[in-house]
Amino acid sequence: MKICCIGAGYVGGPTMAMIASKCPHIQVAVVDINQERIDAWNSDTLPIYEPGLHEIVQGARGENLYFSTEVDRYIQESEVIFISVNTPTKEYGSGLGQAADLRFVEACARKIAEISTTPKIIVEKSTVPVRTAEMVQTILKSTSPETPHQVVSNPEFLAEGTAITDLLDPDRVLIGGETTVGGKKAVEKVVEIYSNWVAKDRIITTNLWSSELSKLTANAFLAQRISSINAISALCEETGAHVDEVARAIGTDSRIGPKFLKSSVGFGGSCFQKDILNLCYLCRYFRLPEVAEYWEQVIHMNEYQKERFVRRILEAMFNTVSGKKIAILGFAFKKDTNDTRESPAIAICRRLLEEKATLAIYDPKVSKQAIINSLNLPDEQIDSIQFCESAMEACDQSHCIAVLTEWDEFREINFESVYQSMIKPAILFDGRNLLDLEKIKAIGFNAKGIGVG
Ligand code: NAD
Ligand code: UGA
Repeated sequence: MKICCIGAGYVGGPTMAMIASKCPHIQVAVVDINQERIDAWNSDTLPIYEPGLHEIVQGARGENLYFSTEVDRYIQESEVIFISVNTPTKEYGSGLGQAADLRFVEACARKIAEISTTPKIIVEKSTVPVRTAEMVQTILKSTSPETPHQVVSNPEFLAEGTAITDLLDPDRVLIGGETTVGGKKAVEKVVEIYSNWVAKDRIITTNLWSSELSKLTANAFLAQRISSINAISALCEETGAHVDEVARAIGTDSRIGPKFLKSSVGFGGSCFQKDILNLCYLCRYFRLPEVAEYWEQVIHMNEYQKERFVRRILEAMFNTVSGKKIAILGFAFKKDTNDTRESPAIAICRRLLEEKATLAIYDPKVSKQAIINSLNLPDEQIDSIQFCESAMEACDQSHCIAVLTEWDEFREINFESVYQSMIKPAILFDGRNLLDLEKIKAIGFNAKGIGVG
């Protein structure tokens, strides 16, 4: 069997590498229009950092896994075509700032319709609004009515930083298709691919629309848990309760469960906000404004949490950070990834620069250029940033340390010697509740976490 995936990003690359490594009998091509990205996939420096990814790619690349810009060729050759292109929030026109921008998905559908001379199974891997498959079907049917293509929905649930283990041992694989004979056969074909390593009882099949909507719903529920615990964190700070203790106490209730209750400076990443906005847009489109307003609160709380963090820093620094050096430890939206998309660090750094602070940023995996691109600020503000090679360098001669990503290496910092090198009073804000604050306070720091009374 030959398959291909359009889109060599955070999803397309790792997902196809896993299929290739688990299915040596399948030839897998990952295609993209971005030459630089494809070159990186074919090099020793992969375009994304993901634990375990390099080994899997190295094992299959050149055997049954190919990265290429020859989009037309691999579409033509493949029986199954995954679409894994980006579906960002619309930045123009109707639906601005809310709806999903589906132009990349549409371009893929048009390309497949134009190129294909044999029937294809087109798999929506990208996260899309419910009923997107209808758009793909319409394009295919109107462009090549004589070729019976099938559209299947197979959303991806991997999280960055744990993509390889998530793909290797998924909680479930979701596959939605049409309930016609052709639709069922197409679903079976995709089930067959995953069955090479995923137990059958973990492969859920549904109709197309349930599958599409389940993806948006899953992300909305996950983000909602974070906003809920973050809302409680604000109350903890006022009352002497400790948010981690509250999370533990409620998480032991099997109906609630312990995961995704880690209070933080706010959730980031390319998907939670985008997918909730998309869900809200759909609700309004279907004239359900109350439902839209309910989910919008999840985003409002996340914005509030980031701003609250900045305000607490300001208060601790006598309401002015102008000319003061603040060490920013971590810029990625979570540990074990180099991804900075919608990272809470972006909003926090921008706010601190607006307050005229000098920032010293260190992240183990995010490059200087990626930080500059993410902040997207005028040169004079970028001049107020020092880009550091280590946490120690960032903290040296600083007034305050802000931990924004939960990288394991930050636990290993020698805070006694850091304290010696700082301007007093030495302040530390742990935006991830990563560190042992009692120990850090004992050194002499004015140290605060999230939701710690
Ligand atoms: P990404 O931006 O990293 O990658 C998308 C790739 O698609 C880019 O390399 C781009 O060049 C390519 N592309 C766009 N249009 C193309 C075209 N017409 N032909 C060929 N290539 C094209 O995006 P991502 O993070 O991999 O996300 C992809 C989709 O998966 C999104 O819908 C996202 O919501 C969803 N998703 C992402 C994650 C995640 O962890 N990042 C997890 C689950 C689902
Ligand atoms: C998330 C989902 O977990 C995946 O299932 C989904 O496939 C993916 O979005 C997607 O659709 O893109 P991801 O964004 O990669 O994955 O990472 P998460 O682990 O979900 O973390 C998202 C953000 O929430 C991070 O900023 C993280 O630090 C934060 N978070 C997470 C918390 O603040 N507290 C928690 O308890 C968990």
